[in-house]
Formats: sequence, structure tokens, C-alpha cells
Amino acid sequence: MSLHIQPIAGVGAEIQGVDLRRELSNAEFATIRDAFAQHGVIFFRDQAIDEQQHIAFARRWAPININRFFSAHPRFPEIALVSKERGQQNNIGGGWHTDHSYDQIPAMGSILVARELPPEGGNTLFASMYAAHDALSQGMREMLSRLKAVHSARHIFGEGPDTYYKQTDAGNDRIGNAKAAEALQDVVHPVIITHPLSGKQALYVNPAFTIRFEGWTAEESKPLLNQLYAHCMRPDFVHEFVWRDGSIAFWDNRSTWHFARNDYHGHRREMHRITVEGEPLTGTA
Ligand code: SIN
Repeated sequence: MSLHIQPIAGVGAEIQGVDLRRELSNAEFATIRDAFAQHGVIFFRDQAIDEQQHIAFARRWAPININRFFSAHPRFPEIALVSKERGQQNNIGGGWHTDHSYDQIPAMGSILVARELPPEGGNTLFASMYAAHDALSQGMREMLSRLKAVHSARHIFGEGPDTYYKQTDAGNDRIGNAKAAEALQDVVHPVIITHPLSGKQALYVNPAFTIRFEGWTAEESKPLLNQLYAHCMRPDFVHEFVWRDGSIAFWDNRSTWHFARNDYHGHRREMHRITVEGEPLTGTA
């Protein structure tokens, strides 16, 4: 079967007719890269890749960004473990977010491979920030294109007693290095970005890491941010991905959000995540 791109309602595309155990030809890679840029998240089914093949596929895209906060695979430091144990209540990524917006140059995206799945549940939702942008009125887009927003990771991963991972058991021994979060400076990004690969416009704020608009207080920013967040979660911008053994999702942090459902208490779920570096972000001006 030859390579086929099957777009999905809401967001994303399934890539069929490819075996990620082998090296992709340049033509195959270009087709998959274009699908990633256009659709925001790409899905693969029935792939039997091992850790080294996962790493080789990731390196084809960009240098690997070794995660500062999640525990690493014991033999492959390039792979971050995104896991939830049987007795644990909270999970990693159980709220809408996009990864690494707290970095000066946010990572391109992450390639998530299912390794152990609960009997049911544990789906991941994705939302299109291209679609969210395009559905705004022209007046709102013009206003937002003049704004920048401040992003931070300290309230999630930092050392304070009330950070998300201190307040929940999502961390346990799988999240560490709070000092890395404390050392991160707040960063500022345009609220509407021009995507570095597709050239399309995307709304670039998210509920986890955006703390305010530049030049506005957090309190002043909250109503507009909340309005934008409600807009971004519209069901017609969203796809809920149901994992199976052999499934892989590769999402773009610049054009999508994601959210891991935490609805499988009493069961274990383990995913292997490799994040790859991105390009500097620019606004629309
Ligand atoms: C994440 O990286 O936010 C977790 C995604 C997932 O576990 O499905």
C-alpha cells in the first residue's frame, strides 16, 4: 500500500501505508512533513517500532529536546516516560495545553508511542489552533495580532508548595527537576503566530502556560484569555484519538493543543514521548 494521507474531522490526519521501522525515502518524508504542517497532528496505526526506531524517526525531523521535567526511559534518555500507575489519581497532561510555550523557542512537537494501555479510556484530545484562529472575527484577529502574551512553567513544574505537581500525585517519582522550572525566565510570544512550516496563522495562547498579556496584569488578562480558551475548545476544532497497541501520535505544539483524559483509574498507562526542537516564532506583522 502506498502512502496515503487521510484528513480527520476537527484536526489531524492519519498517515497510512508506511512502516516506521524502516528509513523513509526523501519523498515519503516530505509528504509526511507537509501533512504534519497542514493538519497539526498526524496519527499512525499498527506500528511495531522499538525505542531505537522511535529515536531514529524523531531525529529525522529535528534535534531531540531532552525533557527537563519528566523521568527518562532507563536506557534511552531521549525518551521521556509519560506514565500513570494503578494507584495514582492524577496524570500528566490532564488539562488542555501545548507543550513548551514557556521556552524562548518552543519545541516543534512530540512523538508519542503507546506502550501500555488501559483496557478502555486514556484517549487524548487534540484541538486545532489554525481552526480556532480562522473562526475568530476579523476585528478580533486584528486586535489579537497586536498583542503578545507571557508564558511560564514555574506554577506547574516549579518548587513552590502550590505548583500543580506538588499539589497532586501526578508527579510522584516521575516528575523531577523543579529547579529547572525555577530557572526558566518568563517568555513572550505573539498571540497570533505565523506557523514556521505552513505559513498559516494560529492562535498561540494556552490554559496551562500563558499567564497574561504583555503589558496587562494577570487579572486584566483573565477574561479575554478565558473567552479565547472557551472558543479554542469548540467541538468542531477537536478530535479525540483512541489509542490502540501500535498507535503513534505526533503533534505540533505551534498549531494544536492536547489533553490526556484521566478516566482509567486502577489501570496502568505508559507512553514513550520524544520531543523535537522547533524554530523561532514570529507574529503576523
Ligand atoms: C502529554 O504529553 O501531555 C500527555 C499526552 C498523553 O498522555 O496522551
